[in-house]
Amino acid sequence: MYTEKILDHFTNPRNLGVLEDADGIGVLGDPGCGDYIKVYIKVTDDHISDIRFQIAGCPAAIACGSAMTELAKGKSIDEAAEICDADILEYLGGLPEEKAHCSNLGAGALQNAIINYLVKALQQQEHVTVI
Ligand code: FES
Repeated sequence: MYTEKILDHFTNPRNLGVLEDADGIGVLGDPGCGDYIKVYIKVTDDHISDIRFQIAGCPAAIACGSAMTELAKGKSIDEAAEICDADILEYLGGLPEEKAHCSNLGAGALQNAIINYLVKALQQQEHVTVI
């Protein structure tokens, strides 16, 4: 059912945890009633220099979160913003049809973390108010 790579990322997720000094944080899902992921990014010279995630979800979602961090780490903000569900599925060698949606969490939370970072950066500029 699952590829070896998925099982590897599920049993040994990369970059689990919290970044206390994160430059951007993105969440997706609801911790109270289902799947949930929180992504922390550190940005240095416009590149994702560090990334961590916390998750409550199925094995496929956990593997996809881990894969997302591996794909995003070291990429420029522009490159990381392009990472989508299909990239995560390709990286992991595919998911069973009924589990394909599980890749949404990682990609979506990464996009939210990037947006959070960009909004914070804009707010530090004079004459800009993000509402
Ligand atoms: Fe809902 Fe995997 S994220 S079943």
